[in-house]
Amino acid sequence: MCGIIGYIGLKPSLPILMDGLKRMEYRGYDSAGIAVIENGQLKTVKKSGKLDALQAALANQSFSSVIGLGHIRWATHGAPTDLNAHPHSDCTGKIAIVHNGIIENLAELKAELKAEGHELKTATDSEVFAHLIEKYYNGHNLSEAVLQALTKVKGAYGLAVISSSEPDKIVAARLGSPLILGILPQDQPNQGNGYVIASDAAAILPFTKEVVYLEDNDLAIITGENYEIIEKSGKCNNHQKQHLDWDLTEAEKEGYPHFMLKEIMEEPKVVADSMRGRLIPEQGKVKLGGLIDVLPQLKSARRIIFVACGTAHYAGRIGEYLMESQLGLPAEVEYASEFRYNESVLEPGTVVIAISQSGETADTLAAIRQAKKLGALVLGIVNVVGSSIARETTAGVYNHVGLEISVASTKAFVSQLVILVLLTILLGRQRNLSEDKAKEIISELENLPDKIKQILEQRDIIETIAKKYAQRNNIIFIGRKINYPIALEGALKLKEISYLHAEGYPAGELKHGPLALIDATWPVVAIAPQDSVYQKNLSNLQEVKARDGQIIAIATAGDEAIKELAKEVIYLPKTLEILYPILAVIPLQLLAYFIAKERGCPIDQPRNLAKSVTVE
Ligand code: M6R
Repeated sequence: MCGIIGYIGLKPSLPILMDGLKRMEYRGYDSAGIAVIENGQLKTVKKSGKLDALQAALANQSFSSVIGLGHIRWATHGAPTDLNAHPHSDCTGKIAIVHNGIIENLAELKAELKAEGHELKTATDSEVFAHLIEKYYNGHNLSEAVLQALTKVKGAYGLAVISSSEPDKIVAARLGSPLILGILPQDQPNQGNGYVIASDAAAILPFTKEVVYLEDNDLAIITGENYEIIEKSGKCNNHQKQHLDWDLTEAEKEGYPHFMLKEIMEEPKVVADSMRGRLIPEQGKVKLGGLIDVLPQLKSARRIIFVACGTAHYAGRIGEYLMESQLGLPAEVEYASEFRYNESVLEPGTVVIAISQSGETADTLAAIRQAKKLGALVLGIVNVVGSSIARETTAGVYNHVGLEISVASTKAFVSQLVILVLLTILLGRQRNLSEDKAKEIISELENLPDKIKQILEQRDIIETIAKKYAQRNNIIFIGRKINYPIALEGALKLKEISYLHAEGYPAGELKHGPLALIDATWPVVAIAPQDSVYQKNLSNLQEVKARDGQIIAIATAGDEAIKELAKEVIYLPKTLEILYPILAVIPLQLLAYFIAKERGCPIDQPRNLAKSVTVE
């Protein structure tokens, strides 16, 4: 969703704000703006369009201000125009706010403020914050005015506020949308540290690795010299400082044209990092440190429910299959956005596992809160350390794959699949998975980084195929059993970044309807490795070929027979049936990438989307 940033310290604020916004561009990119306090006056510059438009608008302006706010927007209320871009101001033009989240009682608050004579100029919900704060502000009580304003608001917010009447502080507050305070190193002894507050660690990383995560209902008062965090109860609690373990280079493209390609090319390392220190090959066991405290509950678990959204949901589908096929443990997967309203009945022994790259997805967060209310043990598979989902789950496993910046999730998905296999082994060894079988899986997991490299070496072949099909209007993806979710993921990846119409189907379903669509204009991507349903897949491909469908097969190395059916074949190294999804998704990610590239799409920032969806 939107990205927000604030800086206060001794340095000029504008370069810090712009650097931070650049690094959060993946969170939203339909408009951007900054507000600084320059010679006692609030100066705001905001522009619709990408960050470059704001950069251009700032080109002829120079500011020496050492305090300011910045915002990059993903529109919820109001079109992406200059006016609707943040920061927003009150009637006096002295207060500026940036907001990430949503105000649910907007109509009521707007009516109240208008009746009191406030002039609301934009179509956004966020502007209401500026006027509410104005209502309670007497020129020297900014933090109290913010606190009072917040009591009126229903919804979610990561909020930062400045006022030209108090040019020495930023007030920030969090409920439901992430906020992280970065503590900058002192330039010289006895000088203030300087602070960056942002919705995303990526915006803080260039300046410091020392951070404090704000909790829901926290209010932070930040001056150039110090900060104070006040909890809902009024108690001051500055929380523990944490050290970001990400490298700045992770937030750079390092020579790749897009983050998406960089992140796909990192996948051999991602798989190794996801397993690092977690395998005990000689015993056929895995060790997941984050789950040690809940091992007894996992042993007696009677049902697993995965909750997740988008790509992470498809990982959950594979988790469901692994639990049931390998362990005989009943499992299911739910869209987090549905689970929260489903009024599900959870029997004792149910373990709910949330899967989320960002750890901030509002629907997934709401689902885990609901699951907790229903008495389930709630665990997480999360990439972003210290994120809301990581903190609100009882225990969990981190992916440890570093920053994922491209909106299209690639390396995080591959890592989620690896973690799910590790979880299968962990739960399996508590149950009936034999030591030999576990050893076989572990040994093959260890081979995966090399096998992924072999797939990535086919990058040029995949690009050539992509060029051939990039101008088609529709593509169908098919797969069976554990590879059916990969068909869904392949279709999602393609539509999300290339705007092509794509659908994923279980291969056996084609003849129940979609086969009617197939003619020579339809490419059909078939995930058909040599597994237990290989022959069934071949029969389905015969049906497609008979209707002139253009088959692009993802097949096992050495499979010559499939060439009879397919126009194109991309080969995967041979692996165990349950590990094929980890390999099979990679050519689909590359195919989507190269098709989008051929179509001239803005790959890392697809229209209408944002990286972490922190509103419902
Ligand atoms: O951060 P999360 O894993 O919770 O995000 C869930 C989805 O929003 C995300 O996977 C989305 O579907 C991606 N853009 C897909 O590439």
